[in-house]
Amino acid sequence: MNAGKNTPPNPSTFSPLTRDPGDVWVVHGHAEVIACASDPERFSSRVSRHLQIPNGLDGDEHRRFRNLIEQFLNPQRVNGYQPLFEYVAETLVSGLPRSSPIEIISRLGSRLAVRAQCGWLGWAPELEQPLLDWMKDHREAARTNDLKRLALGAARFDAMVQDEIERHRGPAPQGGTWTDAMSDLLAVRVEDPDSAEGRRLLTDKERISILRNWVAGDLGSIADSVGVIAHQIASRPEIQCEMRNRLSDRHALIRGIDELLRIDDPFLTNRRITTCPVKLSGQQIPAKAKVILHWADAGRDPRVFPNPDSFEPERSAPKNIVYGAGPHICPGRTLATIQLAAAVRALLSGCPWIRLADTPNSRRAQLPTGGFEEAWIVLEQDTPS
Ligand code: HEM
Repeated sequence: MNAGKNTPPNPSTFSPLTRDPGDVWVVHGHAEVIACASDPERFSSRVSRHLQIPNGLDGDEHRRFRNLIEQFLNPQRVNGYQPLFEYVAETLVSGLPRSSPIEIISRLGSRLAVRAQCGWLGWAPELEQPLLDWMKDHREAARTNDLKRLALGAARFDAMVQDEIERHRGPAPQGGTWTDAMSDLLAVRVEDPDSAEGRRLLTDKERISILRNWVAGDLGSIADSVGVIAHQIASRPEIQCEMRNRLSDRHALIRGIDELLRIDDPFLTNRRITTCPVKLSGQQIPAKAKVILHWADAGRDPRVFPNPDSFEPERSAPKNIVYGAGPHICPGRTLATIQLAAAVRALLSGCPWIRLADTPNSRRAQLPTGGFEEAWIVLEQDTPS
Protein backbone atom coordinates (compact mmCIF):
# COMPACT_ATOMS: atom_id res chain seq x y z
CA MET A 1 0.00 0.00 0.00
CA ASN A 2 1.36 3.43 -0.84
CA ALA A 3 1.82 6.38 1.49
CA GLY A 4 -1.18 8.69 1.51
CA LYS A 5 -1.28 12.43 2.02
CA ASN A 6 0.97 13.62 4.88
CA THR A 7 2.77 10.30 5.17
CA PRO A 8 6.48 10.51 4.32
CA PRO A 9 6.98 8.76 0.97
CA ASN A 10 9.39 5.89 0.71
CA PRO A 11 10.61 5.47 -2.87
CA SER A 12 11.88 1.96 -2.18
CA THR A 13 8.43 0.68 -1.12
CA PHE A 14 6.32 2.76 -3.51
CA SER A 15 4.28 0.48 -5.79
CA PRO A 16 3.32 2.03 -9.12
CA LEU A 17 0.69 -0.69 -9.63
CA THR A 18 -1.29 -2.68 -7.06
CA ARG A 19 -4.11 -5.18 -7.31
CA ASP A 20 -6.83 -4.88 -4.69
CA PRO A 21 -8.83 -7.80 -3.27
CA GLY A 22 -11.80 -6.98 -5.53
CA ASP A 23 -9.50 -7.73 -8.50
CA VAL A 24 -9.25 -4.08 -9.42
CA TRP A 25 -5.87 -2.84 -10.67
CA VAL A 26 -4.89 0.50 -9.16
CA VAL A 27 -2.28 2.56 -11.00
CA HIS A 28 -0.44 4.89 -8.58
CA GLY A 29 2.76 5.76 -10.43
CA HIS A 30 3.10 9.08 -12.29
CA ALA A 31 4.58 7.62 -15.51
CA GLU A 32 2.23 4.62 -15.35
CA VAL A 33 -0.92 6.75 -14.94
CA ILE A 34 0.13 8.93 -17.88
CA ALA A 35 0.87 5.81 -19.96
CA CYS A 36 -2.63 4.36 -19.31
CA ALA A 37 -4.43 7.69 -19.80
CA SER A 38 -2.60 8.19 -23.12
CA ASP A 39 -3.45 4.72 -24.44
CA PRO A 40 -7.25 4.68 -24.95
CA GLU A 41 -7.05 1.74 -27.35
CA ARG A 42 -5.89 -0.58 -24.59
CA PHE A 43 -7.34 1.31 -21.61
CA SER A 44 -10.92 2.06 -22.65
CA SER A 45 -13.09 4.70 -20.94
CA ARG A 46 -16.27 2.73 -21.71
CA VAL A 47 -16.64 1.66 -18.09
CA SER A 48 -20.36 2.26 -17.56
CA ARG A 49 -23.53 1.05 -19.24
CA HIS A 50 -24.91 4.62 -18.86
CA LEU A 51 -24.37 7.23 -21.57
CA GLN A 52 -21.47 9.43 -20.42
CA ILE A 53 -20.53 12.18 -22.87
CA PRO A 54 -17.62 12.58 -23.44
CA ASN A 55 -15.92 10.77 -20.55
CA GLY A 56 -17.35 7.32 -21.28
CA LEU A 57 -16.55 7.39 -25.00
CA ASP A 58 -13.54 6.16 -26.96
CA GLY A 59 -11.98 6.73 -30.35
CA ASP A 60 -13.72 8.70 -33.08
CA GLU A 61 -16.97 9.00 -31.14
CA HIS A 62 -15.05 10.61 -28.27
CA ARG A 63 -13.23 12.95 -30.67
CA ARG A 64 -16.51 14.17 -32.24
CA PHE A 65 -18.19 14.97 -28.91
CA ARG A 66 -14.99 16.33 -27.41
CA ASN A 67 -14.72 18.84 -30.31
CA LEU A 68 -18.26 19.96 -29.60
CA ILE A 69 -17.63 20.39 -25.88
CA GLU A 70 -14.41 22.33 -26.35
CA GLN A 71 -16.41 25.03 -28.15
CA PHE A 72 -18.09 25.71 -24.80
CA LEU A 73 -15.10 25.43 -22.50
CA ASN A 74 -12.27 27.00 -24.48
CA PRO A 75 -10.35 29.86 -22.81
CA GLN A 76 -11.63 32.56 -25.22
CA ARG A 77 -15.17 31.75 -24.20
CA VAL A 78 -14.83 31.12 -20.48
CA ASN A 79 -12.40 33.99 -19.76
CA GLY A 80 -15.37 36.31 -20.32
CA TYR A 81 -16.89 35.00 -17.08
CA GLN A 82 -13.97 36.11 -14.91
CA PRO A 83 -15.62 39.39 -13.74
CA LEU A 84 -18.80 37.48 -12.79
CA PHE A 85 -16.90 34.81 -10.84
CA GLU A 86 -14.81 37.46 -9.06
CA TYR A 87 -17.94 39.38 -8.13
CA VAL A 88 -19.60 36.21 -6.76
CA ALA A 89 -16.49 35.24 -4.75
CA GLU A 90 -16.04 38.75 -3.31
CA THR A 91 -19.72 38.96 -2.36
CA LEU A 92 -19.60 35.59 -0.61
CA VAL A 93 -16.36 36.34 1.26
CA SER A 94 -17.49 39.80 2.36
CA GLY A 95 -20.56 38.15 3.92
CA LEU A 96 -18.50 35.70 6.01
CA PRO A 97 -18.09 36.38 9.73
CA ARG A 98 -14.65 37.47 10.97
CA SER A 99 -12.77 36.01 13.96
CA SER A 100 -15.05 33.00 14.36
CA PRO A 101 -14.95 29.49 12.84
CA ILE A 102 -16.48 29.01 9.40
CA GLU A 103 -16.85 25.83 7.38
CA ILE A 104 -15.38 27.04 4.12
CA ILE A 105 -16.63 24.34 1.72
CA SER A 106 -20.31 25.00 2.44
CA ARG A 107 -19.92 28.76 3.02
CA LEU A 108 -17.76 29.52 -0.02
CA GLY A 109 -16.85 26.46 -2.16
CA SER A 110 -20.30 25.04 -2.87
CA ARG A 111 -22.02 28.42 -3.19
CA LEU A 112 -19.38 29.82 -5.53
CA ALA A 113 -19.56 26.66 -7.66
CA VAL A 114 -23.36 26.78 -7.92
CA ARG A 115 -23.63 30.52 -8.61
CA ALA A 116 -20.80 30.45 -11.15
CA GLN A 117 -22.40 27.43 -12.79
CA CYS A 118 -25.84 29.02 -13.02
CA GLY A 119 -24.14 32.15 -14.39
CA TRP A 120 -22.24 30.58 -17.27
CA LEU A 121 -24.94 28.09 -18.20
CA GLY A 122 -27.74 30.65 -17.88
CA TRP A 123 -29.69 28.59 -15.34
CA ALA A 124 -32.36 30.22 -13.18
CA PRO A 125 -30.98 31.70 -9.91
CA GLU A 126 -33.84 29.88 -8.09
CA LEU A 127 -31.94 26.65 -8.79
CA GLU A 128 -29.21 27.65 -6.32
CA GLN A 129 -30.81 26.03 -3.25
CA PRO A 130 -32.04 22.85 -5.02
CA LEU A 131 -28.53 22.41 -6.48
CA LEU A 132 -26.90 22.94 -3.07
CA ASP A 133 -29.30 20.37 -1.55
CA TRP A 134 -28.57 18.00 -4.41
CA MET A 135 -24.79 18.34 -3.93
CA LYS A 136 -25.10 17.56 -0.23
CA ASP A 137 -27.26 14.53 -0.87
CA HIS A 138 -25.06 13.28 -3.72
CA ARG A 139 -21.95 13.59 -1.57
CA GLU A 140 -23.53 11.67 1.29
CA ALA A 141 -24.82 8.95 -1.06
CA ALA A 142 -21.37 8.61 -2.71
CA ARG A 143 -19.66 8.45 0.69
CA THR A 144 -21.94 5.66 1.91
CA ASN A 145 -22.04 4.00 -1.53
CA ASP A 146 -25.85 4.08 -1.29
CA LEU A 147 -26.69 3.02 -4.86
CA LYS A 148 -30.44 3.54 -4.48
CA ARG A 149 -29.95 7.07 -3.19
CA LEU A 150 -27.44 7.78 -5.97
CA ALA A 151 -29.95 6.58 -8.59
CA LEU A 152 -32.73 8.72 -7.08
CA GLY A 153 -30.36 11.70 -7.00
CA ALA A 154 -29.43 11.13 -10.64
CA ALA A 155 -33.12 11.07 -11.62
CA ARG A 156 -33.78 14.26 -9.63
CA PHE A 157 -30.81 15.92 -11.32
CA ASP A 158 -31.93 14.86 -14.81
CA ALA A 159 -35.39 16.29 -14.12
CA MET A 160 -33.87 19.64 -13.09
CA VAL A 161 -31.82 19.72 -16.30
CA GLN A 162 -34.81 18.75 -18.45
CA ASP A 163 -36.80 21.64 -16.90
CA GLU A 164 -33.99 24.05 -17.78
CA ILE A 165 -33.88 22.70 -21.35
CA GLU A 166 -37.65 23.31 -21.67
CA ARG A 167 -37.32 26.82 -20.18
CA HIS A 168 -34.63 27.66 -22.76
CA ARG A 169 -36.90 26.41 -25.53
CA GLY A 170 -39.42 29.06 -24.52
CA PRO A 171 -39.15 32.86 -24.75
CA ALA A 172 -36.16 34.56 -23.09
CA PRO A 173 -36.91 36.80 -20.08
CA GLN A 174 -37.98 40.40 -20.74
CA GLY A 175 -38.51 39.77 -24.45
CA GLY A 176 -34.74 39.41 -25.07
CA THR A 177 -32.85 36.53 -26.66
CA TRP A 178 -31.05 33.70 -24.92
CA THR A 179 -27.28 34.27 -24.98
CA ASP A 180 -25.95 31.60 -22.62
CA ALA A 181 -24.18 28.25 -22.91
CA MET A 182 -27.42 26.38 -22.32
CA SER A 183 -29.17 27.91 -25.35
CA ASP A 184 -26.08 27.26 -27.49
CA LEU A 185 -26.25 23.61 -26.44
CA LEU A 186 -29.76 23.46 -27.94
CA ALA A 187 -28.50 24.80 -31.28
CA VAL A 188 -25.05 23.23 -31.63
CA ARG A 189 -24.53 20.37 -34.11
CA VAL A 190 -22.32 17.37 -33.59
CA GLU A 191 -20.33 15.79 -36.41
CA ASP A 192 -22.14 12.60 -37.46
CA PRO A 193 -21.00 10.59 -40.52
CA ASP A 194 -24.39 8.80 -40.61
CA SER A 195 -26.49 11.95 -41.01
CA ALA A 196 -27.25 13.41 -44.46
CA GLU A 197 -25.48 16.75 -43.75
CA GLY A 198 -22.57 15.20 -41.83
CA ARG A 199 -23.80 17.02 -38.70
CA ARG A 200 -26.93 16.86 -36.56
CA LEU A 201 -28.52 18.44 -33.50
CA LEU A 202 -27.99 16.69 -30.17
CA THR A 203 -30.77 14.60 -28.66
CA ASP A 204 -32.06 15.63 -25.22
CA LYS A 205 -30.53 12.46 -23.80
CA GLU A 206 -27.12 13.55 -25.10
CA ARG A 207 -27.62 17.11 -23.79
CA ILE A 208 -28.52 15.81 -20.35
CA SER A 209 -25.48 13.53 -20.30
CA ILE A 210 -23.18 16.44 -21.26
CA LEU A 211 -24.74 18.70 -18.65
CA ARG A 212 -24.58 15.99 -15.98
CA ASN A 213 -20.87 15.71 -16.65
CA TRP A 214 -20.27 19.48 -16.54
CA VAL A 215 -22.51 20.26 -13.61
CA ALA A 216 -22.00 17.25 -11.35
CA GLY A 217 -18.23 17.21 -12.04
CA ASP A 218 -17.84 20.95 -11.78
CA LEU A 219 -19.82 21.55 -8.60
CA GLY A 220 -18.17 18.82 -6.56
CA SER A 221 -14.63 19.39 -7.77
CA ILE A 222 -14.73 23.17 -7.30
CA ALA A 223 -16.24 22.92 -3.81
CA ASP A 224 -13.72 20.25 -2.75
CA SER A 225 -10.84 22.19 -4.27
CA VAL A 226 -11.78 25.32 -2.29
CA GLY A 227 -11.68 23.10 0.82
CA VAL A 228 -8.17 21.72 0.29
CA ILE A 229 -6.76 25.07 -0.87
CA ALA A 230 -8.20 27.02 2.08
CA HIS A 231 -7.11 24.34 4.53
CA GLN A 232 -3.50 24.42 3.32
CA ILE A 233 -3.42 28.23 3.32
CA ALA A 234 -4.78 28.25 6.88
CA SER A 235 -2.58 25.45 8.23
CA ARG A 236 0.76 26.37 6.63
CA PRO A 237 1.73 30.03 7.22
CA GLU A 238 4.66 29.84 4.78
CA ILE A 239 2.24 28.84 2.01
CA GLN A 240 -0.17 31.61 2.96
CA CYS A 241 2.63 34.23 2.72
CA GLU A 242 3.77 32.80 -0.61
CA MET A 243 0.21 32.81 -2.01
CA ARG A 244 -0.27 36.42 -0.84
CA ASN A 245 2.93 37.37 -2.72
CA ARG A 246 1.48 35.76 -5.83
CA LEU A 247 -1.72 37.87 -5.83
CA SER A 248 -0.16 40.49 -8.10
CA ASP A 249 0.79 37.93 -10.77
CA ARG A 250 -2.17 35.96 -12.13
CA HIS A 251 -0.07 33.20 -13.70
CA ALA A 252 1.99 32.74 -10.53
CA LEU A 253 -1.24 32.61 -8.51
CA ILE A 254 -2.64 29.89 -10.78
CA ARG A 255 0.59 27.87 -10.55
CA GLY A 256 0.28 28.15 -6.76
CA ILE A 257 -3.31 26.89 -6.87
CA ASP A 258 -2.35 23.96 -9.13
CA GLU A 259 0.45 23.05 -6.72
CA LEU A 260 -1.93 23.06 -3.73
CA LEU A 261 -4.22 20.73 -5.68
CA ARG A 262 -1.29 18.46 -6.50
CA ILE A 263 -0.23 18.26 -2.84
CA ASP A 264 -3.76 17.36 -1.72
CA ASP A 265 -5.72 16.41 -4.83
CA PRO A 266 -9.45 16.10 -4.03
CA PHE A 267 -10.20 14.57 -7.44
CA LEU A 268 -8.77 11.16 -6.65
CA THR A 269 -9.40 8.68 -9.45
CA ASN A 270 -10.96 7.75 -12.79
CA ARG A 271 -11.76 4.32 -14.18
CA ARG A 272 -10.67 2.41 -17.26
CA ILE A 273 -11.15 -1.14 -18.58
CA THR A 274 -8.49 -3.06 -20.52
CA THR A 275 -9.42 -4.12 -24.05
CA CYS A 276 -6.63 -6.76 -24.28
CA PRO A 277 -3.92 -8.23 -22.04
CA VAL A 278 -1.48 -5.43 -21.12
CA LYS A 279 1.92 -5.45 -19.43
CA LEU A 280 2.35 -2.54 -17.03
CA SER A 281 5.11 -1.98 -14.49
CA GLY A 282 6.31 -5.57 -14.98
CA GLN A 283 2.88 -7.10 -14.30
CA GLN A 284 0.46 -8.73 -16.68
CA ILE A 285 -3.06 -7.25 -16.57
CA PRO A 286 -5.67 -9.44 -18.29
CA ALA A 287 -8.23 -8.25 -20.84
CA LYS A 288 -11.49 -6.75 -19.46
CA ALA A 289 -9.77 -5.91 -16.16
CA LYS A 290 -11.04 -2.98 -14.10
CA VAL A 291 -8.33 -0.34 -13.77
CA ILE A 292 -8.24 2.76 -11.57
CA LEU A 293 -6.04 5.71 -12.50
CA HIS A 294 -5.06 7.28 -9.19
CA TRP A 295 -4.34 10.94 -10.03
CA ALA A 296 -3.81 11.90 -6.39
CA ASP A 297 -1.15 9.23 -5.78
CA ALA A 298 0.50 9.94 -9.13
CA GLY A 299 0.81 13.60 -8.11
CA ARG A 300 2.71 12.47 -5.01
CA ASP A 301 4.87 9.78 -6.64
CA PRO A 302 8.16 10.07 -4.69
CA ARG A 303 10.17 9.18 -7.82
CA VAL A 304 8.91 12.43 -9.40
CA PHE A 305 8.16 14.58 -6.32
CA PRO A 306 10.79 13.50 -3.74
CA ASN A 307 9.12 15.64 -1.08
CA PRO A 308 5.48 15.65 -2.16
CA ASP A 309 4.29 18.08 0.55
CA SER A 310 6.84 20.69 -0.40
CA PHE A 311 5.25 23.75 -2.10
CA GLU A 312 7.25 24.29 -5.30
CA PRO A 313 4.79 25.50 -7.97
CA GLU A 314 7.29 26.33 -10.70
CA ARG A 315 9.20 23.07 -10.30
CA SER A 316 6.04 20.94 -10.23
CA ALA A 317 4.08 22.67 -13.01
CA PRO A 318 5.42 20.63 -15.97
CA LYS A 319 4.64 17.35 -14.16
CA ASN A 320 1.35 18.37 -12.56
CA ILE A 321 -1.42 15.99 -13.74
CA VAL A 322 -4.24 17.16 -11.46
CA TYR A 323 -6.32 17.85 -14.58
CA GLY A 324 -5.47 14.51 -16.16
CA ALA A 325 -3.51 13.49 -19.27
CA GLY A 326 -4.17 12.06 -22.73
CA PRO A 327 -7.29 12.50 -24.86
CA HIS A 328 -9.64 12.79 -21.86
CA ILE A 329 -7.60 15.56 -20.18
CA CYS A 330 -9.96 17.95 -18.40
CA PRO A 331 -11.56 20.39 -20.88
CA GLY A 332 -12.90 22.41 -17.90
CA ARG A 333 -9.47 23.42 -16.60
CA THR A 334 -9.73 27.10 -17.53
CA LEU A 335 -13.23 27.39 -16.09
CA ALA A 336 -12.13 25.69 -12.86
CA THR A 337 -9.00 27.84 -12.63
CA ILE A 338 -10.92 31.11 -13.01
CA GLN A 339 -13.32 30.10 -10.24
CA LEU A 340 -10.56 28.92 -7.90
CA ALA A 341 -8.42 32.01 -8.54
CA ALA A 342 -11.47 34.17 -7.77
CA ALA A 343 -12.01 32.30 -4.49
CA VAL A 344 -8.36 32.55 -3.39
CA ARG A 345 -8.11 36.22 -4.34
CA ALA A 346 -11.31 37.09 -2.47
CA LEU A 347 -10.17 35.20 0.65
CA LEU A 348 -6.63 36.57 0.76
CA SER A 349 -7.49 40.15 -0.22
CA GLY A 350 -10.58 40.13 1.99
CA CYS A 351 -8.77 39.53 5.28
CA PRO A 352 -5.22 40.03 6.54
CA TRP A 353 -4.74 36.53 7.96
CA ILE A 354 -6.39 33.10 7.81
CA ARG A 355 -5.83 30.34 10.33
CA LEU A 356 -7.27 26.93 11.13
CA ALA A 357 -10.12 26.94 13.66
CA ASP A 358 -9.23 25.44 17.06
CA THR A 359 -12.68 23.84 17.12
CA PRO A 360 -14.53 22.31 15.38
CA ASN A 361 -11.85 20.14 13.85
CA SER A 362 -11.70 19.78 10.10
CA ARG A 363 -12.69 16.28 8.97
CA ARG A 364 -11.20 14.46 5.99
CA ALA A 365 -13.70 13.00 3.51
CA GLN A 366 -13.86 9.23 3.38
CA LEU A 367 -13.01 7.27 0.26
CA PRO A 368 -14.03 7.33 -2.55
CA THR A 369 -14.26 11.09 -2.01
CA GLY A 370 -11.07 13.13 -1.63
CA GLY A 371 -10.43 16.37 0.22
CA PHE A 372 -12.41 17.33 3.32
CA GLU A 373 -15.87 16.58 4.59
CA GLU A 374 -15.59 19.80 6.62
CA ALA A 375 -12.76 22.36 6.57
CA TRP A 376 -12.98 24.86 9.46
CA ILE A 377 -10.99 28.09 9.25
CA VAL A 378 -11.01 31.56 10.87
CA LEU A 379 -10.72 34.81 8.92
CA GLU A 380 -8.75 37.06 11.25
CA GLN A 381 -9.01 40.84 11.34
CA ASP A 382 -5.30 41.30 12.12
CA THR A 383 -2.06 39.66 11.09
CA PRO A 384 -0.45 37.49 13.81
CA SER A 385 2.05 39.42 15.96
C1 HEM B 1 -10.58 21.52 -9.82
C2 HEM B 1 -11.48 21.14 -10.69
C3 HEM B 1 -11.32 19.98 -11.64
C4 HEM B 1 -10.45 18.92 -11.63
C5 HEM B 1 -9.34 18.63 -10.63
C6 HEM B 1 -10.76 18.11 -12.80
C7 HEM B 1 -10.06 16.97 -13.15
C8 HEM B 1 -10.34 16.19 -14.26
C9 HEM B 1 -9.61 15.01 -14.65
C10 HEM B 1 -8.42 14.41 -13.90
C11 HEM B 1 -10.15 14.54 -15.81
C12 HEM B 1 -9.69 13.31 -16.63
C13 HEM B 1 -10.67 12.17 -16.51
C14 HEM B 1 -10.22 10.91 -17.21
O1 HEM B 1 -9.15 10.86 -17.82
O2 HEM B 1 -11.00 9.90 -17.16
C15 HEM B 1 -11.27 15.40 -16.12
C16 HEM B 1 -12.10 15.22 -17.21
C17 HEM B 1 -13.19 16.03 -17.46
N1 HEM B 1 -13.52 17.21 -16.82
FE1 HEM B 1 -12.59 18.00 -15.21
N2 HEM B 1 -11.80 18.68 -13.47
C18 HEM B 1 -12.17 19.84 -12.81
C19 HEM B 1 -13.15 20.73 -13.18
C20 HEM B 1 -13.94 20.60 -14.28
C21 HEM B 1 -14.91 21.56 -14.72
C22 HEM B 1 -15.15 22.92 -14.09
C23 HEM B 1 -15.52 21.04 -15.83
C24 HEM B 1 -16.60 21.59 -16.74
C25 HEM B 1 -17.54 22.37 -16.48
C26 HEM B 1 -14.92 19.75 -16.08
C27 HEM B 1 -15.30 18.90 -17.11
C28 HEM B 1 -14.65 17.72 -17.42
C29 HEM B 1 -15.07 16.83 -18.51
C30 HEM B 1 -16.25 17.04 -19.46
C31 HEM B 1 -14.16 15.77 -18.51
C32 HEM B 1 -14.17 14.56 -19.47
C33 HEM B 1 -13.31 14.87 -20.67
C34 HEM B 1 -13.23 13.72 -21.67
O3 HEM B 1 -13.64 12.62 -21.36
O4 HEM B 1 -12.76 13.99 -22.79
N3 HEM B 1 -13.96 19.52 -15.14
N4 HEM B 1 -11.36 16.41 -15.18
